[in-house]
Amino acid sequence: MRNDGELVCTDITKIYDTGDRALSSINFSVPTRGVFTLIGRNGAGKTTLTRILATLLEPTSGVATIDGLDVMNDANELRERMAVVPQEARPIPWMTPLQMISSYLMWRGISYRESRRRAEEAVVRVGLEDSAHRLSRTLSGGMKRKALVAMVIAADADFIFLDEPTTGLDPISRQDIWTLLTELGEKRFLFLTTHYLEEAEMIADRVGILDDGTLLALGNMDELRMQLGYQYSVRIHGDIDLPPLNGRVLAGRDGQVQVITTQDEAMYLSDRLIDRNVKFSVNPITLEDIFYHVVGRDIDTENRWGWIR
Ligand SMILES: Nc1ncnc2c1ncn2[C@@H]1O[C@H](COP(=O)(O)OP(=O)(O)O)[C@@H](O)[C@H]1O
Ligand SMILES: [Mg+2]
Repeated sequence: MRNDGELVCTDITKIYDTGDRALSSINFSVPTRGVFTLIGRNGAGKTTLTRILATLLEPTSGVATIDGLDVMNDANELRERMAVVPQEARPIPWMTPLQMISSYLMWRGISYRESRRRAEEAVVRVGLEDSAHRLSRTLSGGMKRKALVAMVIAADADFIFLDEPTTGLDPISRQDIWTLLTELGEKRFLFLTTHYLEEAEMIADRVGILDDGTLLALGNMDELRMQLGYQYSVRIHGDIDLPPLNGRVLAGRDGQVQVITTQDEAMYLSDRLIDRNVKFSVNPITLEDIFYHVVGRDIDTENRWGWIR
């Protein structure tokens, strides 16, 4: 089979009937194993691309294949091998998690007995065993999301698409879900979208940065740092005159300054700051730094300097 073991997008463009151009000629390929995370601001096109790859939406032009199967021409075959949780997905309110998961599996062609067995196994796996018989509408937001994750675990699909699986959840539920997804990604291909960059950095084997319908960067963290050309971030607590620098200087609120730069310059700058008795910290560049540099804005405008507490 052609491109076996890869997801390949060639010139994928989507213009909605309203005239909104959601995606402009998206080109990339990633291996269909591990976790691929697509990050981008609201309206960047994440849901549109996810839905096209999950065979739920037709592109205006372009071709996408997953393990050599075309998302348009081989959609039926692909659907048997994929499980999808759309951004707006919520468990059916009048069903229990067990009922929802087993009916989903039966709909996928699995026998009643096997569906029950797998559903019971999956609710234990996500830690929902005590709530498996409660109506979904009585579950907390975090439990609802876990029920959906249990559903994709039970489906045992090769390719799993989850569009913003943790948005709006409290930090502890988010952490639980990312842990489950990390485990899931060890054996399968997970395609996730998020705007929680810390989590993306922890869980993703590869990250794609989408902005305004264009894919601006793609790679693992090291590759993204290489593309940026800078490896370190120096945060300086206080208003000082900096020596001339090649790196990028960003001014934050409260007179704080961040310098994104090379290792050599970070060392040089550290020496100067120590000499002047200025408080500072040095860290490897984070995905948040990379996003800001590549896109020119934060993923959530309000959150710039959110790391200063
Ligand atoms: N059904 C639709 N009809 C018209 N425009 C849409 C539709 N869905 C999304 N869009 C537009 O396409 C762009 C990308 O949206 P979307 O893929 O939902 O982005 P994201 O998931 O990154 O927030 C936005 O400008 C949005 O307004
Ligand atoms: Mg979306």
